[in-house]
Amino acid sequence: MIVLGIESSCDETAAALVRDDGTILSSVIYDQMDLHAAYGGVVPEIAARAHAERLDLVTEQALAEAGMTLGGISAISVTAGPGLIGGVVSGVMFAKGLSRGTGIPLIGVNHLAGHALTPRMTDGVAFPYLMLLVSGGHCQFLSVLGPDQFQRLGGTIDDAPGEAFDKTAKLLGLGYPGGPEVERAALTGDPRRFPLPRPLLDRPGCDMSFSGLKTALRRARDTLVAEQGGLTQADRADLCAAFQDATADVLTEKTRRAMAAFAAEHGPTTIAVAGGVAANRALRTALQDAAAEAGFAFTAPPLKLCTDNGAMIAWAGIERLRSGEAVDDLTLSARPRWPLDRDAAPLLGSGKKGAKG
Ligand code: KG4
Ligand code: ZN
Repeated sequence: MIVLGIESSCDETAAALVRDDGTILSSVIYDQMDLHAAYGGVVPEIAARAHAERLDLVTEQALAEAGMTLGGISAISVTAGPGLIGGVVSGVMFAKGLSRGTGIPLIGVNHLAGHALTPRMTDGVAFPYLMLLVSGGHCQFLSVLGPDQFQRLGGTIDDAPGEAFDKTAKLLGLGYPGGPEVERAALTGDPRRFPLPRPLLDRPGCDMSFSGLKTALRRARDTLVAEQGGLTQADRADLCAAFQDATADVLTEKTRRAMAAFAAEHGPTTIAVAGGVAANRALRTALQDAAAEAGFAFTAPPLKLCTDNGAMIAWAGIERLRSGEAVDDLTLSARPRWPLDRDAAPLLGSGKKGAKG
């Protein structure tokens, strides 16, 4: 069984072909970063138009790279939410057209399920496992119990960490996306010069908050600018190091709590981390150590499968087909919000891509 996966919920237009044994036959990602760089963040309208222009091209390229035609495909799996609605609509309409024109079954999948199920495609991780999704638009702990069975243990109540990295970079005049820039600057910085808060660590549970950190950072910057008339390279490095340290501390401590809560029910199994922020070396090391202490195996899919891609959407479609659930029809709708855990109370936060909770 080979499934075509289509992703367009944020700023990557992606298509991939994946076989049901987890082999990725092709994965094409058109990254819109250049279109949004001048604005320091994703502009929804620009993103939606760019998706509409590129979806057919990335799909053709994915087929060509796999040496296939549409005739060899068992299903078309498309992100039907959550995300920037214009982009999601572009993808869903494209997939419906393709399905209608060819008769290939259509499956609308949850983007977050795509991220959450990726460790099964890459490492064959068995249910149940714990997942930390941490990117520019998502931040949550999920117990992954089955292909459509997720339990949210906690998440951000405001910004996602990647968004906070991006805003930090913008505040300090660094480039976009901010995460890698902040990480690079932090390498030479002193994390102790600016004591930043560790939001919500004083409260029980696994919920997190990152917007206060950003405000504290802005204050520290403004004070320096008022005193010295500007920022030196060393100031920037120290501010970045302080921010990265605080973020990693919060995420690591909350991960310890999430592992304890998960282990109390299921025993220690595997913790998987995905999302663009999982690329951060300081964070990754801290999480790996915490996992070892708690007796969990640690896994992080390769970076190009941590960030948004079509392969994870194809894989989520494969999991759905395997579970015997019905496919979708032309009434499939695009959803800006679509929580994985239907029983969890909604989180307050809304990231740059709209609330993902
Ligand atoms: O998963 P992703 O590609 O897209 C979303 O779904 O959001 O994540 C992108 C986010 C951006 O906010 C980016 O600044 C952040 O991940 N990021 C990083 C690093 N690399 C990317 N954050 C911290 N450290 C990094 N090395
Ligand atoms: Zn994503």
